Amino acid sequence: MSDERLTDDALMTDTAERPRRGVKSYVLRAGRMTAAQNRGLEEVWPRLGLSVEDGLQDLDVLFGRRAPRVVEIGFGMGGSLIEQAEAHPDTDFIGIEVHAPGVGKLLDEADKRGLTNLRVYRDDALAVLTHCLPEASLDGLQLFFPDPWPKKKHHKRRIVQPAFVELVRTRLKPGGQLHMATDWQAYAEHMAEIMADAPGYRNTATDGPYVARPEFRPLTKFERRGAQLGHGVWDLIFVRAD
Ligand SMILES: C[S@@+](CC[C@H](N)C(=O)[O-])C[C@H]1O[C@@H](n2cnc3c(N)ncnc32)[C@H](O)[C@@H]1O
Repeated sequence: MSDERLTDDALMTDTAERPRRGVKSYVLRAGRMTAAQNRGLEEVWPRLGLSVEDGLQDLDVLFGRRAPRVVEIGFGMGGSLIEQAEAHPDTDFIGIEVHAPGVGKLLDEADKRGLTNLRVYRDDALAVLTHCLPEASLDGLQLFFPDPWPKKKHHKRRIVQPAFVELVRTRLKPGGQLHMATDWQAYAEHMAEIMADAPGYRNTATDGPYVARPEFRPLTKFERRGAQLGHGVWDLIFVRAD
């Protein structure tokens, strides 16, 4: 079945443990790599890179310590992740991104700044969550400015779906946070609707579904671009309740 023929209903009936077959939340585009990005992928990858094929991780073994753990999905060129990893050396960060130039750039920067609290997957986040990250292992999961897929026929590609948020819930520790941000109002409303129906979460917002922009969220490339275009930004922070 082609992507276009998969209906939203088919997607909704997928179980949380099963990534959505065939429907991707991204399109891989060939991009030119800079010398620094290539260096990251070739020289730094063996130390900080991880693959789905590496299987289920013991995060204490991986990082060689016990520490709070935060995952960022779709980090783009990695600016926000690098900034956070540098600002919070006592927290371990795992980035997941499919875009090779972004992964290369993040690795190159991590190496230049001597970061030891960061690991990177260049894989589909659904596969990484399903196969590599243990249940109840994360203190936080960040999804900043995911592709909004504005056309209705592409809404099934939006990463935020009932099965996705349930999969995330199982990987969060009780009390762990799912933090989403978008500059696309219709996607913010979609996120709020999905979360309103998602069992096992509590919204941290007290006045409507959204929270004020948290100071600790670094300004990303997409947010900056959205602001220049006059877009608003919506943050949603939910906690795993059970
Ligand atoms: C609109 S960009 C936002 C990048 C960054 N968070 C920012 O704010 O600048 C969305 C990113 O998510 C990545 N992405 C989409 N679906 C993904 C998936 N299933 N697994 C990993 N990365 C994904 C895309 O490659 C893209 O780089």
